[in-house]
Amino acid sequence: MIIIGPPGAGKGTQASRIEEFLGIGNLSTGALLRDAIASGSELGNKAKVLVEGGKFVPDDVMIALVSARIAEPDCENGFILDGFPRTLAQAAALDELLESQGTKVDAVVEIKTQDDVVVERINGRFACKTCGEGYHRAFKTPEKDGVCDVCGGTEFELRADDSEEKIRTRLSLYHEQTAPILPYYEKRGILKSVDGTKDLDNVTQELKEVLASVN
Ligand code: AP5
Ligand code: MG
Repeated sequence: MIIIGPPGAGKGTQASRIEEFLGIGNLSTGALLRDAIASGSELGNKAKVLVEGGKFVPDDVMIALVSARIAEPDCENGFILDGFPRTLAQAAALDELLESQGTKVDAVVEIKTQDDVVVERINGRFACKTCGEGYHRAFKTPEKDGVCDVCGGTEFELRADDSEEKIRTRLSLYHEQTAPILPYYEKRGILKSVDGTKDLDNVTQELKEVLASVN
């Protein structure tokens, strides 16, 4: 399944919550790129300026990255794509890739929000430096102040592309290049949506209901 929505809509947060529910792999292309940047790999060094500037990484690079990642064992029974496809060319390439493996996209869920909501969410976001668990200053704070709920880490970090200016660049790119993918899936009758302005648990609940109707 594909989870789609503007920056800060809650794609990563919700994908981690439903990964276990669905029992399938979870593939965030943004996280893959940030890992590559942190490791200093050739891909990471090439992608760094683009990702940290809020711009898209070229389609051919992204398609190769996804193609390699879905060959891993945790994706054998299916996977959630968060952050891919982001352009029509990526959507077409994904179809080709899946078709060559005798499979297809079952569901595309759009997390619907508004630009002012996502800007507030991104502005308050931080993550554990050790395990990457995501938090928000107002909406999702660690149970014990300064200690990660998941791994007990005590160091947190902000994302390099989360400045106000870069958020605006990312939002514009979403509206120009990613939103036009939605009709591509709507025509096939596999596009669903959830109200992403609700609180975290309500969005998860709605997402589970939508997915149950697909199965
Ligand atoms: P990526 O990592 O995918 O970033 P994004 O799409 O900009 O989305 P975010 O991760 O910022 O937001 P999210 O929707 O996951 O929200 P989250 O759950 O964190 O991509 C990063 C970059 O990589 C791109 O800009 C590009 O450069 C490159 N890239 C990646 N894929 C690419 C591709 N296919 N092609 C080309 N380039 C690519 O939630 C946000 C905050 O809000 C959190 O703090 C969370 O706790 C909080 N929150 C979430 N939901 C709620 C709620 N319902 N109520 C209250 N708070 C909430
Ligand atoms: Mg994310």
